[in-house]
Amino acid sequence: MRKKRVAILISGRGSNMAALVKAARAPDFPAEIVLVLSNRPEAAGLDFARSESIPTALVPSKAYGKDRAAFDAAMQAELERSGAEIVCLAGFMRLLTPEFCEGWAGRMINIHPALLPSFKGLDTHARALEEGVKLHGCTTHFVTPGMDEGPIILQAAVPVLDDDTEASLGARVLAEEHRIYPETLRLLASGRLAIEGRRVKITG
Ligand code: GAR
Repeated sequence: MRKKRVAILISGRGSNMAALVKAARAPDFPAEIVLVLSNRPEAAGLDFARSESIPTALVPSKAYGKDRAAFDAAMQAELERSGAEIVCLAGFMRLLTPEFCEGWAGRMINIHPALLPSFKGLDTHARALEEGVKLHGCTTHFVTPGMDEGPIILQAAVPVLDDDTEASLGARVLAEEHRIYPETLRLLASGRLAIEGRRVKITG
């Protein structure tokens, strides 16, 4: 089977991107990473991508100010140049225009550090601790125009312990992110995800 061409969008550390890159090293993984694109020049993940000889691109969101359409058009140009067929958001901290999301509908996925639909947005671990939930976790989902709203693909739950801090809870969640994101990409790239309304079914 031909491997699907994947671009990963990052803004920072890039540990989820690294997990995808490592998974894609396996000969039987159905996707190859053809581009790592960052909206921030200082994103540490860019160094990892370069060390792996993966093509990188920088589309500095600062340079576009509030002009989201121009920023998204610049990203789209990079994605088309790379021949990407699937886009993975991996800690990409920038809202995308509805037009961009619709252009990639069914082919763009995200990982969020909470059990959606709880704790959309930022500071998810601190908010989970504050709310006193006993289970927290992470979610992969298709990207739609609404923030953290698209159909859910996979979730992993972790217990919240009495002595947890934001850091200890975040580390427990991150380990699960690094497990479910490559698994999600594997399912999508092998054509095994069927979207039915808000539900995603795993086929095959
Ligand atoms: C990850 O925890 C990811 O789930 C989260 O940012 C972190 C990026 O870390 N994403 C979001 O909050 C998106 N709403 P990483 O750069 O090491 O992958």
